[in-house]
Amino acid sequence: MGKKGKTVFVCQQCGYESARWQGQCICGAWNSMVEEVPLKEETDRGRFGVIGREGARPKAQKLGDINPGAENPRISTGLKELDRVLGGGMVAGGLTLISGEPGIGKSTIIMQSAIHVARTQGSVLYVSGEESQEQIKLRSRRIGGEIEAPVYILSETNVEVIEKTVEEIQPRLIIIDSIQTMYCRELDSAPGSVAQVRTCGNHFMTMAKSRNIPLFLVAHVTKSGELAGPKIVEHLVDCVLYFSGERDGELRLIRALKNRYGTTSEIGAFMMGSTGLVEIRDLSKRFIEENKKPSEGTMVTAIHEGTRPLLLEIQALSTATNLNFPRRTAIGIEVSRLNMIIAVLEKKGKLSLAHQDVYVNIVGGFKPQSTSMDLAVALAIHSSYSNKVCPQGVLAIGELGLTGDLRSVPRVERIIGEAQRMGYHKILLPASQARKLRKGTFSDKKDAPEGVAAEIIGVANIKEALSCYFLEKGRR
Ligand code: TYD
Ligand code: MG
Repeated sequence: MGKKGKTVFVCQQCGYESARWQGQCICGAWNSMVEEVPLKEETDRGRFGVIGREGARPKAQKLGDINPGAENPRISTGLKELDRVLGGGMVAGGLTLISGEPGIGKSTIIMQSAIHVARTQGSVLYVSGEESQEQIKLRSRRIGGEIEAPVYILSETNVEVIEKTVEEIQPRLIIIDSIQTMYCRELDSAPGSVAQVRTCGNHFMTMAKSRNIPLFLVAHVTKSGELAGPKIVEHLVDCVLYFSGERDGELRLIRALKNRYGTTSEIGAFMMGSTGLVEIRDLSKRFIEENKKPSEGTMVTAIHEGTRPLLLEIQALSTATNLNFPRRTAIGIEVSRLNMIIAVLEKKGKLSLAHQDVYVNIVGGFKPQSTSMDLAVALAIHSSYSNKVCPQGVLAIGELGLTGDLRSVPRVERIIGEAQRMGYHKILLPASQARKLRKGTFSDKKDAPEGVAAEIIGVANIKEALSCYFLEKGRR
């Protein structure tokens, strides 16, 4: 840490301190020196600037004596999909980081929330370091027409000025767009540098915690998904959201990478329209075309994302290769997972794929993090390889092990409920789970679909699944 009143540069690798910035540290590391903030005189200040406000030193308390007060009420953003990802809404004093590639819609989603909060809660301060007040006005017109609600726009990048404005306006929500453009006068380094982002991040944390209001920080990410600049803010904030999607396409997905107030498995889905982001409630319909005739190489599966089931179509193409090493291309699933499924198909399913290029695609540009679609991927490859078409209304779920056995899938009851709703009447499941379902032993009674109308077909392993009659029936 810097000594009182003096700026120092510290090596992030070895901790060496220097009064000047050096390209190479004495330990040999390049570009590892980071400017440190000089310590302030006020040493009695608590972490969030509140505990020691009266000059009293913050005291340690026994866990049993701490009274957390009433349960923190959630503040709705007006977008149910975003509220769900946040764990039920924003939390007073909570810091949320929204990250995503430039142009994905971060400023749009945040403006939509700002308008709602201003209408329901009171003033909102939207600080933009990237756009002028006029540009933001034009965006807000596109989203909600003329807005009477008290959304204050400040085009500013200096943290000290922002602090003064917060003091004046006393907002119920603060938005900082984006953290990489903000700077603190006490540091010499440029906005976006490690030291600036860390110091500004700390200022904003104090701002939110001491006033007990929610604060959103916007951050850009690089093409590879890394937070541009330092990851340092990720540790500071309570919740990290990642906004993704194809910039040319309409679909936008928001996912929590870290959430101190909720789960990280939820996803929120939106469509970018001409008047801002529109929530997609029925996600399965987005990925599956109803009454679509199945074709070679396609298979439908279902996964559980957060608290909701989701149906997905898997497409596979297997063609003779003209290379020594056949191609394995996967969009939406990991190539290593695809290689494992192909290996199991070869060894346990007796398919000869050594001279076949294999391509797998999850329709809709979605990248699920679930292994319950393994069986469907295997069947889609088999379907393409053997020119067999799976009949309409069949869905396959199951995780594939290296032994070729199929493993149970969590919360299958709700998945089946969703499959039935979407018109799937034959469901291929791991045998052990199928037995349980037939006996009506549901792990969670309320999840049980009303009378399992669908035909449940239990398969123990990949071999059984491949020889399953429905594929034979579908033979051309
Ligand atoms: P923006 O929120 O500015 O992205 P970010 O803050 O993540 O950089 O949105 C960028 C894109 O969204 C831009 O290309 C225009 C498009 N857009 C729409 O298609 N419809 C709309 O209603 C709005 C506001 C933006
Ligand atoms: Mg923006």
